[in-house]
Amino acid sequence: GTGTTRTFRVWRGGGDGELTTYEVEVNEGEVVLDVLHRLQATQTPDLAVRWNCKAGKCGSCSMEINGRPRLSCMTRMSTFAPEETVTVTPMQTFPVIRDLVCDVSYNYAKAREIPSFTPDPGTAPGDFRMRQEDVQRSQEFRKCIECFLCQNVCHVIRDHEENKESFSGPRFLMRVSELEMHPEDTADRRMIAQDEFGLGYCNITKCCTEVCPENIKITDNALIPMKERVAGRRYDPLVWLGSTIGRR
Ligand code: SF4
Ligand code: F3S
Ligand code: FES
Repeated sequence: GTGTTRTFRVWRGGGDGELTTYEVEVNEGEVVLDVLHRLQATQTPDLAVRWNCKAGKCGSCSMEINGRPRLSCMTRMSTFAPEETVTVTPMQTFPVIRDLVCDVSYNYAKAREIPSFTPDPGTAPGDFRMRQEDVQRSQEFRKCIECFLCQNVCHVIRDHEENKESFSGPRFLMRVSELEMHPEDTADRRMIAQDEFGLGYCNITKCCTEVCPENIKITDNALIPMKERVAGRRYDPLVWLGSTIGRR
């Protein structure tokens, strides 16, 4: 080939695996996923890596590259200094199945726990009315490609496996927030956001927003507004009085 030879360190094996070093050819304009495919073609036919679109849209190729959560199909080799070793590891927050592939079923379990869109049954589909700003808010959140990089980076679960049970993570708190702010959704999601999905664990570090390949402002546009709504529900004394009486 016409490329240069670069040093890659790649995680091989399961959770108890190890980094293995390879010298591999890299050509102008390539992304990290291209290089992993070359490794598969030339040296490591059994290297497990999940990918699909190679266009930053399917969310399959998430991994950690030099310690930073990234889509491997969107990470150009020119990101790194010419002599820099590139270290590729699976997402840390989820169990490794093999090599670069992890078991992300935590995320699907959390998705299933969210009560679905609940419109007023009396409103016919053609009678839905939404302001443009409400449409735009939903559209931003719906750019999510479910790469789970935000879920992977959030310290609440990255550093504390035991929090997984009570914390849904930024992607799914964003979904709860989207539904809560939807003008045609009749469910009150504020208490479950706090009590079932663990919104209170989020201390607004914004690491989720920093890694989102779709540049969704997860913290500012979903999590903080949701926290404000929860605070209104909890601390507005009249609402509190009303709901206390209602429950008795
Ligand atoms: Fe990925 Fe962004 Fe969706 Fe999180 S919100 S899963 S980082 S696209
Ligand atoms: Fe985690 Fe994002 Fe909150 S990284 S702590 S969910 S702002
Ligand atoms: Fe689809 Fe990277 S392969 S996002």
